[in-house]
Amino acid sequence: MAEINKSVVLQRIIEDIKKCEQCRTLTGVGDRPVFPRGNPNARCMLVGEGPGEKEEQMQKPFVGTAGRLLEHTLTNLGFDVNRDFYITNVVKHRSYKPLPSGKKENKPPTVKQINIEREFLDRETALVKPKLIVTLGAKAGQWFLGKDFKLTENHGKFYNWHGIEILPTFHPAAVLRSYAAGDEGERQHEFEHDLRKIRDIITTLERPMAG
Ligand code: URA
Repeated sequence: MAEINKSVVLQRIIEDIKKCEQCRTLTGVGDRPVFPRGNPNARCMLVGEGPGEKEEQMQKPFVGTAGRLLEHTLTNLGFDVNRDFYITNVVKHRSYKPLPSGKKENKPPTVKQINIEREFLDRETALVKPKLIVTLGAKAGQWFLGKDFKLTENHGKFYNWHGIEILPTFHPAAVLRSYAAGDEGERQHEFEHDLRKIRDIITTLERPMAG
């Protein structure tokens, strides 16, 4: 698809996310959608589970602490994050549990929310046509590989999904949690080890134009 058409189609997807009527009917789901970022011409898509508080505020994926760890890791591996990746989530709205204090606690999206928002990720994937999709966390892995997919046992392996390579790895928030639980970098090491595998695929291909 010509680049100009890609940005037109992406804009249409974004407008449809903004207008999603069904998303509005869900309880415990934020009303400020979070749009994809990065390069729609990239060879690799990064797919997370769903936005958190910071992402909802900024309306961009992976801009909080987990996002900083992700960017730091990818930059250290030699990637230019805005050029080499298209970054999105399984669901575009924050899923939360209201607390008595009035604050909101992030919670995983429900199957109902995932199914309602399914069309957006389907359309993004059809538009970007990545060679490779890196899924971050179990829910994102399961979106592509089925609900029985087990991340702990199978992270860092390549799968084929409709002709696209899928590499499931940990969610950067899980890496942060493992540090907090006393792990001295073991999970980060595995995360980097998984992500290093995509370098060869991406860098041997002609570099895409920044979107
Ligand atoms: N976690 C996600 O899965 N996605 C984001 O955008 C941020 C945190």
